[in-house]
Amino acid sequence: MGPAPRNYLAACGDGDLRYSSYDVLVIGGGIAGLTAAVGAARRWNVAMLTKAGLENTTTFLAQGGVAAAMGPFDSPELHFADTLEAGAGLCDEEAVRLLVEEGPERVRELEHLGTRFDRRAGELVLASEGAHSVPRVVRAGGDATGSVIGSALIQALISGSRVEVHEGEFVLDLLIADGRCVGALSLGPEGELTVSLARAVVLATGGAGQIYANTTNPIVATGDGHAMAWRAGAVMRDLEFMQFHPTALHSDENPTLLLTEALRGEGAWLVDGAGRRFMEGVHPLAELAPRDVVVRRMKEVMVRDGVDHVELDATHLACDFLRERFPTVHGGLTERGFDLCRERIPVSPASHYYIGGVVTDLWGRTSVPGLYAAGEVSSTGVHGANRLASNSLLEGLVFGDRVVRDLDRLLERAEPSVRKVKLDLPTESRRGNDQAATAAATQRLRLEMSRNGGIVRSRESLQQALGHLAELEAELQPPGCAATEFEFYNLLTIARLLLVAAGIREESRGVHLRSDFPERDNEDWQRHVRARLGWDPEVVAE
Ligand code: SIN
Repeated sequence: MGPAPRNYLAACGDGDLRYSSYDVLVIGGGIAGLTAAVGAARRWNVAMLTKAGLENTTTFLAQGGVAAAMGPFDSPELHFADTLEAGAGLCDEEAVRLLVEEGPERVRELEHLGTRFDRRAGELVLASEGAHSVPRVVRAGGDATGSVIGSALIQALISGSRVEVHEGEFVLDLLIADGRCVGALSLGPEGELTVSLARAVVLATGGAGQIYANTTNPIVATGDGHAMAWRAGAVMRDLEFMQFHPTALHSDENPTLLLTEALRGEGAWLVDGAGRRFMEGVHPLAELAPRDVVVRRMKEVMVRDGVDHVELDATHLACDFLRERFPTVHGGLTERGFDLCRERIPVSPASHYYIGGVVTDLWGRTSVPGLYAAGEVSSTGVHGANRLASNSLLEGLVFGDRVVRDLDRLLERAEPSVRKVKLDLPTESRRGNDQAATAAATQRLRLEMSRNGGIVRSRESLQQALGHLAELEAELQPPGCAATEFEFYNLLTIARLLLVAAGIREESRGVHLRSDFPERDNEDWQRHVRARLGWDPEVVAE
């Protein structure tokens, strides 16, 4: 595949550049970025750049909760086994070990910081979700866990730490000097360009669910961090693995409303148009089977019945309970004219979590010196080929904290502060594409990915998608200097990488389903697909 031109994001002319300098620059303000920024600011001079408001993150939309072995019948050992089982043979066991062992302490710290997790008679209430062998999911505000945690962390960021926060700052690219990441170039709300130099950069930009037409991810989830890490030459991994959530409201909204897996944990059923449960007999856990198993069966039922959705049935559960336990879902459905208590709700799978990302070691260090990655943009190896439900907030907490601990060691060794960097920006100011053309191209890309690069793929469909994306790009002018254009090119970069990686993995495993290779093939494919700009070929099976 053709790489995106290295400097395409900077065709903004060579007007006045503003310079700032920090010890640590955090890009992104979800749970991983907030954890890293609040922790690092205890000792260091930290800035955070977010392209939207601090509350406009995937973290804020998280409903289910944080998986952590904190219950009387649970143990890190059990959580470890469940994570590996869900991960379909590709988890990094060392990383999973750290996740499950350090997780409970990170949850307790969040509570000390002011997060009010749901408790009954003083004990944490633990929810059941898919593929967990015991109730393990710590929750807050019923199904509002992400916003409760996010708000507590933002409070700590704003009131208790000295982090310089810049909202509405779109990072165009990472700055690399002598092979080291030394900061980032960003476009501010008034169109001003800023060079933020830093001794270390933490990439925490979240996911890329917006490459598909149906997604639970907010519109900001355009894979910017993935794409800028790619352009900076970081090693990437598992880019073929996009997790689809089984129960998103079947609608044209962007994003569409998530109907948390915890609903099924409380007894809601998945049924076909005739009201028949279809997960019984497919897996011993029925509706609470691992997500990939549920999505696969849903697709079979939809194809069998010639429909584009199935239904979630909670009508046998008490209405007072549903209203109180699931205020976000209940309220969201009511706003849209649905009655969770009295009717079956149309649902279909929607892109939800990008497993693929920037490879890190156990301390969040990427292959580019000076660059860390944490949260969804990273590939720590804990999710394998299918993430266990509610392990992602946990990963953001655990690895966000590990980044902080490593930063302390790195910065103590007094790496020299960077004062100047040769930027080599193009001086031209390109006109680019108007907003309507960019929006239309973005929508075409998303539809194409859903049609030919989505839940079920084949060599033919992947090649078609690559061809259509090339045609789409050829119809556009090279980008000018607008955030929406950069988002489109970031989506395009990641969509292509996903398609190429998906074409290389000739088997079906976890969230990756190939109609032309329907079986899991441990003999040939118990391995990862990696990618790096400049390798030949750029995307390759290990
Ligand atoms: C959910 O609430 O179903 C989402 C949990 C997750 O994706 O981890």
